[in-house]
Amino acid sequence: IRDDAEAASAYAANYIVQRIKEFAPIPSNPFVLGLPTGSSPLGIYRILVDKFKAGEVSFENVVTFNMDEYMGIPRDHPQSYHTFMWHHLFRHININPQNVHILNGNAPDAEAECLAYESAILAAGGIDLFLAGIGEDGHIAFNEPGSSLASRTRPKTLAYDTVLANSRFFDSDIDKVPRMALTVGVQTVMDAREVVAIVLGARKAPALQKCVEGGVNHMWTLSALQLHPHAMIVCDDDAVLEL
Ligand code: GLP
Repeated sequence: IRDDAEAASAYAANYIVQRIKEFAPIPSNPFVLGLPTGSSPLGIYRILVDKFKAGEVSFENVVTFNMDEYMGIPRDHPQSYHTFMWHHLFRHININPQNVHILNGNAPDAEAECLAYESAILAAGGIDLFLAGIGEDGHIAFNEPGSSLASRTRPKTLAYDTVLANSRFFDSDIDKVPRMALTVGVQTVMDAREVVAIVLGARKAPALQKCVEGGVNHMWTLSALQLHPHAMIVCDDDAVLEL
């Protein structure tokens, strides 16, 4: 728990940089990083870019897998997660574009796209560190309330609450928000060797309370982290208001 969002983001960014450095990745043994979108990781991405520019970390041998992507909007839509990631992180660092993996929300065969994504994660050696955010309804990636805790990458219908929460990025017009997404499953995240979740602000306090103090519950999918051997929640003071 850190005083504010800036301090929490700095903690998480430092932690990730330290992990990459300790790992000392090489082309035949890259560091595999899972990444989220949303406003919560923005501070972390900003600091990672600064640290790259200051020569503190290289992403040359880092492979990334994003958590999720909307279905039914073009890849270059301003609100696609593809656009988000290139805008906020990838274009500012020395990552090899071939090492970047983001689900294709327009794949003609969505199921096949999801299966191939799971295979690509396996082929990369599994995810070393999955950075995650949390939705107001406790979702991790787009694993909405009711998602199986054994779920893997698949198409998912978004909960009404999520569509409503994300409408702020779509001119506050709920009709413009995609209703479906491709998302890694809860089990895909749980298979990562380590998970770091960033939770910021009072808006997330009720969900954080359910996920940390409630039982492991498929209605609050971040709560699955209680069963992970190496998981950490990094949060600010406002996020812990209900604990
Ligand atoms: C979306 C993403 C989640 C993210 C959540 C919270 O639903 N699929 O991965 O955690 O938004 O977003 P924010 O950080 O903007 O509150």
